[in-house]
Amino acid sequence: MNRILEDKRFEGLKPFEKKIWLSSPTMHGKEQYWVDEAIRTNWVSTVGENINEVEKQIAEYIGVKYAVGLATGTSALHLATKLAGEKLYGQARPNAGTLQGHKVFCSDMTFDASINPVAYEDGDAVFIDTEYDTWNMSPEALEKAFEIYPDVRLIVVAHLYGTPGKADEIRRIAEKHGALIVEDAAESLGAKYKSRGEWVETGTLGDYNCISFNGNKVITGSAGGMFLTNDLEAANKVRKWSTQSRENAPWYQHEEIGYNYRMSNIVAGVIRGQIPYLDEHIAQKKAIYERYKEGVKDLPVKMNPFDAENSQPNFWLSCLIIDEDAMCPTVRGENEAVYRSEPGKSCPTEILEALAAFNAEGRPIWKPMHMQPIYRMNPFITAEGNGRGKSNAYIAGSGIDVGADIFRRGLCLPSDNKMTPEQVDGVVEIIRRCFQ
Ligand SMILES: Cc1ncc(COP(=O)(O)O)c(C=O)c1O
Repeated sequence: MNRILEDKRFEGLKPFEKKIWLSSPTMHGKEQYWVDEAIRTNWVSTVGENINEVEKQIAEYIGVKYAVGLATGTSALHLATKLAGEKLYGQARPNAGTLQGHKVFCSDMTFDASINPVAYEDGDAVFIDTEYDTWNMSPEALEKAFEIYPDVRLIVVAHLYGTPGKADEIRRIAEKHGALIVEDAAESLGAKYKSRGEWVETGTLGDYNCISFNGNKVITGSAGGMFLTNDLEAANKVRKWSTQSRENAPWYQHEEIGYNYRMSNIVAGVIRGQIPYLDEHIAQKKAIYERYKEGVKDLPVKMNPFDAENSQPNFWLSCLIIDEDAMCPTVRGENEAVYRSEPGKSCPTEILEALAAFNAEGRPIWKPMHMQPIYRMNPFITAEGNGRGKSNAYIAGSGIDVGADIFRRGLCLPSDNKMTPEQVDGVVEIIRRCFQ
């Protein structure tokens, strides 16, 4: 028997009959039509009408001149990062990355796919701490990073959980230092941001921008991603690289390293069926966020914040952060966590266990990159400067590390757009019981 279900605090609660997912695909029917159409007309490869259409429709929706359909968001991020590397430092040898010997400032609290391309291109990621206002890259920490590493010319920035970061401030700092921006809008498709007084979409805020149609995103193609830009030359280059870098010759002729990263016309068929429902999915996610917010208002927690004046998130994931004084003792190792329940207190691990026991899927906050074993030796910059080695045996440091704090106290709630109001209330009740 599950120990949560035996716990008196949860007495009277019944598990959800059907599993509630964190964020699962929602098909509407037209997806099948466009996939069938591709098969019927035999356009079952990486060319076809579905690809042409989704590129056109997404470019229009986002407000960019060019969209290039790719296999995944990760491949879009790789080619965006490579493009930036090549623009800054020139073409690399076939066996070397374009960022060799160069540092890149990177969002720290994000999914690793945002920033792994820096390593694919042989660059060194320098992680920039997070700010509490939006849970995204801290402009203050970014300024500090330029003080410490003034030669850096590239910034990779993500919008976590569909909440736009402080893009104008980051752009201003980038311009001051002549740096390019790769924008990772994988989680924030359809989120809006007031840039220099005008509402624009995320996916327009960098020099090279990326979105994802992964199965858990606000709309999906089962997979798929896109590279977005206003620069024709950049779009053409990404198109070329993504299809093995063929030159204009009768035979396979190659002057550059290529990739097999192009979107499939079948995947594009699913996306084509989903695009008309993007705004509806966002509205559903927003309603879930708002209901959670109302439901937890008397609990010692806060929802993931956003700047209501300058941004309209797509509310991809609803998250919580537990007030410090309501945290029960807890320790996380590399792969496991323990906690000790205390009256009136809880912690992410307990809430996630309780949700799982009642058949609902939550998730810890994305573990910050500077805490990941693979990147543990990479520099990490906070609003105070160097975030590594902040104290010594005799002098205590301030220990400011916003990402680590949000990771410790935060969690992602079930945010499936098909959740009913009753299911949201059920999740809130489980959380409430955790704090009893
Ligand atoms: C922030 C972020 N960047 C990049 C990706 C990678 O996208 P994909 O799974 O389409 O490769 C994801 C999610 O999957 C993501 O959440």
